[in-house]
Amino acid sequence: AFFLPKELPLKGKKVVITAGPTRERIDPVRFLTNFSSGKMGYALAEAAVRLGAETILVSGPVSLPIPLGVKIDNVESAEEMLQAVLAHFDNADIVIKTAAVADYRPKVIHAQKMKKQLGDSTLELERTIDILMTLGQKKSHQLVIGFAAETNNVEAYAQEKLMKKNADYIIANDVTRADSGFGTDTNTVVVIGKENYMKHFDNMTKKELAIQLFQTILAHEKELQH
Ligand code: CTP
Ligand code: CA
Repeated sequence: AFFLPKELPLKGKKVVITAGPTRERIDPVRFLTNFSSGKMGYALAEAAVRLGAETILVSGPVSLPIPLGVKIDNVESAEEMLQAVLAHFDNADIVIKTAAVADYRPKVIHAQKMKKQLGDSTLELERTIDILMTLGQKKSHQLVIGFAAETNNVEAYAQEKLMKKNADYIIANDVTRADSGFGTDTNTVVVIGKENYMKHFDNMTKKELAIQLFQTILAHEKELQH
């Protein structure tokens, strides 16, 4: 259904994609997470394979079939996702951080189920490591691409994340839109890059968007080299 070029543009390239939520344990029966379905990341992994890449999908807990040809690396927490991504980073060509990584985790993971206690109503949290920012600081030849989930000021916040995390591109979506964000099959995004690069993609399936995102970014990168 989609237009595919005869020459596979990602042939010989290694693409690492993270997808889904992370899960931060509180005790053996409870955890903190978010509404990420993993659909955009899985669509990107499928697209990367179709465009010829060796594709590694570092996935948080989701209920989606693994796209054919993708190497899956299942993780649970933000820390496990960080370690998995770092293990693949040195010989990766493109890393796309689609995952909705938890920003906080419980300071202690209780070994036993926590019991209700009089006056106990707070859970102590600590920040997780920012994986995308870690990659932005570490990168040499890699193209580092992040996502941004926003509810307002989408372009301004995405621009801020691009700079702060030293990413090459940020793909931002407005998670309040009905056709966009968590759980939907469609997405509306804006791609932000350095030197005020900006391109909008309006209400298309995540599968079609995935192919177009690769084609657009690869074309822009080629342009930058000339
Ligand atoms: N991200 C990450 N590690 C984290 C948090 C976020 O790698 N601990 C990545 C996400 O995978 C995404 C990008 O950073 O590619 C932006 O995530 P988002 O939640 O939109 O932004 P944050 O930087 O966490 O800022 P905030 O949630 O405060 O808007
Ligand atoms: Ca966040």
